[in-house]
Amino acid sequence: MPVFQAAAHFDRKSAPYTWVLFAFEKEKGFVNAPGKAGEAIREGLEAEGFMGREGQAALVTPPGGFFAKRVLALGLGAKEGVEVESFRRAGGRLGRKAREARVEEVSLDWPRAFDGERAKAFAEGALLGSYQYNLYKTQLKDAPKGLQKVWVKTAPGSLASLKSALKTAESYAAGAILARDLINGPPSDVTPKVLADMARKIAASNKNIRLKVYTKKDLKRMGAGGLLGVNIGSAQEPFLIHLHYKPASKPRKSVALVGKGITFDSGGLSLKPAGSMETMKMDMSGGAAVLGVFSQIAQFNPPVEVHGIVPTTENMPGGRAYKPGDVLKAMNGKTMEVLNTDAEGRLILSDGLSYAVRQKVDEIIDLATLTGACVVALGSLVSGALSNDPKLLARFTRATEAEGERIWEMPLVKEYREDIRSKVADIKNIGGGREAGTIIGGLFLQEFVGDTPWIHLDIAGPAYLEREYPALPYLTYGGTGLMVRSLLTYLRGA
Ligand code: BES
Ligand code: MN
Ligand code: ZN
Repeated sequence: MPVFQAAAHFDRKSAPYTWVLFAFEKEKGFVNAPGKAGEAIREGLEAEGFMGREGQAALVTPPGGFFAKRVLALGLGAKEGVEVESFRRAGGRLGRKAREARVEEVSLDWPRAFDGERAKAFAEGALLGSYQYNLYKTQLKDAPKGLQKVWVKTAPGSLASLKSALKTAESYAAGAILARDLINGPPSDVTPKVLADMARKIAASNKNIRLKVYTKKDLKRMGAGGLLGVNIGSAQEPFLIHLHYKPASKPRKSVALVGKGITFDSGGLSLKPAGSMETMKMDMSGGAAVLGVFSQIAQFNPPVEVHGIVPTTENMPGGRAYKPGDVLKAMNGKTMEVLNTDAEGRLILSDGLSYAVRQKVDEIIDLATLTGACVVALGSLVSGALSNDPKLLARFTRATEAEGERIWEMPLVKEYREDIRSKVADIKNIGGGREAGTIIGGLFLQEFVGDTPWIHLDIAGPAYLEREYPALPYLTYGGTGLMVRSLLTYLRGA
């Protein structure tokens, strides 16, 4: 991750590197370059099509007399109505452009008008946009390193607030990147045990975080039949990970985050076609987000108790595998008829949610790459959100808006509950046909939360990108680390 260094003074005449200048569309010059000289550079750039539009970037050598040797101009769009998100995107563009142009160090004057939230978003964008998953590349010697260092100068009076914004950005990006690395890791490397070990590492380095990892033996004793049933065909041990953050002061309330941790989803005996399996290492993205949040949460000392619960296993076919027709019993005693072994997420979450309820929490937010139907409905940039509590959802939505992570509500249509009524058990794990797959998934999960205020986030689309979006340069191919930032913001304000 590149490093941000903020200071009230440095000698810009001797600064040997590239200077970043911000441009608004339809304005002259740059926000953070002196009048006439900046205006001249801007005119030159406009002749080549740089208009200061959001997402535009241009690297030029300015005429002599200008203090910087090189200028990297970033467009922010129209001045009126410029949003925090524009800064995140401009930051992402900086990260991309730096790698492309083999620029490793840049400097900038932080404009006084760009307050804390904007500084945070810009830095976050740069950190996330610089990300590449390189662990298995053996030919990196001549590859561009990307952005390494960003020097930021500001007025002495704003230094403290700028530093704090940058620190928050670094922490948010680190949390998201921890999730990205886990998601991008090959499924035979990132096994349930690796997720449990990551939880151990997180708990060991934060004194306010406790950890309990339940093993197969524990799970049998607890009656976690959903998780055990899905696991039975796998050679890897299942775990139920329980991280617990307790604030120093008396907590205002308690929140449970429950993340789906399927480290590989083959579909089981209801086997997926080869193409659909290609990305199924990402089926633990919900769990990875929970770990990402816990890796950073203690830094912010939020006045709420937070439980991070991750049921984790592979979903594999084989001679021992669970079968269509099997009946599993969840930790809360409900029986579930398995009619499709590929609807496994809801089966392991039955135990994760029952366990969360047992902690007597005030709120539950679950995150799961649950249904392909959600990807069909909302695509790769919007998560489905289903909730039994409009007020909770409204508060959480504000956090997602601040972080540029989009969610869209889908209704928990009571009448559709008929579709998961089973002839032999309490409920079955699929509906009748192809209709309303995401809602059916949500209704199934609702069986396990009781009256606890709850949000189910179906992140099947945005958790993992198979293509990049030019307008969103801070999102890179593969795991996105989605919801780590929104959850941190939500918990800090909760
Ligand atoms: N992990 C998948 C959902 C998924 C699909 C995530 C595509 C990301 C991209 C989930 O376990 C699954 O297989 N769901 C089934 C449910 C069906 C059998 C009711 C699906 O969506 O087909
Ligand atoms: Mn599945
Ligand atoms: Zn799955």
